[in-house]
Amino acid sequence: MSTVPASAATAFPSTATATAHPNIALIKYWGKRDESLVLPAAGSLSLTLDVFPTTTTVTLSTDPADVVWHNGAVAGREFTRRVGGLLDTVRQRAHSDSHALVVTHNSVPTGAGLASSASGFAALAVAAAAAYGLELDTRQLSRLARRGSGSASRSLIDGLAVWHAGDDESSFAEPVAGPALGMIAVVIDDRRKAISSRDAMRLTAATSPYYDAWVAATAADLDAMLAALARDDFTAVGELTESNALRMHAAIAGSRPPVRYLTAASLTVFELVAQLRAEGLPVYATADAGPNVVVLCRQRDLDRAARALAARVPQFRLIPARPGRGAHLVAAEGAP
Ligand code: PMV
Repeated sequence: MSTVPASAATAFPSTATATAHPNIALIKYWGKRDESLVLPAAGSLSLTLDVFPTTTTVTLSTDPADVVWHNGAVAGREFTRRVGGLLDTVRQRAHSDSHALVVTHNSVPTGAGLASSASGFAALAVAAAAAYGLELDTRQLSRLARRGSGSASRSLIDGLAVWHAGDDESSFAEPVAGPALGMIAVVIDDRRKAISSRDAMRLTAATSPYYDAWVAATAADLDAMLAALARDDFTAVGELTESNALRMHAAIAGSRPPVRYLTAASLTVFELVAQLRAEGLPVYATADAGPNVVVLCRQRDLDRAARALAARVPQFRLIPARPGRGAHLVAAEGAP
């Protein structure tokens, strides 16, 4: 990590704004090898989308504490604490003791399993690094975003990204080539989920008898996914995506007390996707830690898939998405 001298870091008030998009995993991250460094038990792979951007501005301040605004209101204590944790990492590297004002606007339905933390912490990492005068490359920014929320490491990358398991140095996300993909988010319920992914991951690792099997299977699924992407085999990509998601939910459901993120409506959408496939439309389903289902297709089938879903589940909002840009700086002032 590059650093700046203490005198330079404290001498300027600085502000920077970054934008990031959420990503949806085809091979899921569920479980940590190291809680404080946020090192995953297995690698994962995702698609950064071109919808639901988060925009975050970090401004160094003379206040005695960090102040965080989220969607127009002062953020709650837990959210502020998590933001402060990432800022502490940045301050340490920048040899700065300045606190910051963080203003973030998140257009993802927060906490509903549509990856709001991924875009949020990716934007925060990019804006905070710039505001504190750190010059970090994408790999270093991915490692920094990881400390806020594991999946945020992947939102630094355009389109398809693999996030490597490993140690603090080697656990970052990087781009992968593959077929042109599209996704359709089926918004079944956009309320905040009852149990956070952080808490449920911990519970799964501590109590689910299927956890170790999940970790081993995911490492193998990731290798198979990388091979499928490399040979442009969309059928294998889709099959691995759907199967890996259901394996994750099975491991989660095996926790005690049990956690159920998928609802009856989610399972209906999984069933519908299988029916559409049987009718000749190549679509596959996945779901993160919430009831919403995301449908994967080839980009050229996106409109057709969206029309087919709209006809069968008109009660749910559909959000078609294409590969989007990784987190990036949109403005910076006053940096040295
Ligand atoms: O990064 P977190 O702590 O929000 O965890 C994300 C977990 C899943 O979204 C369910 C899976 C994934 O790989 O994104």
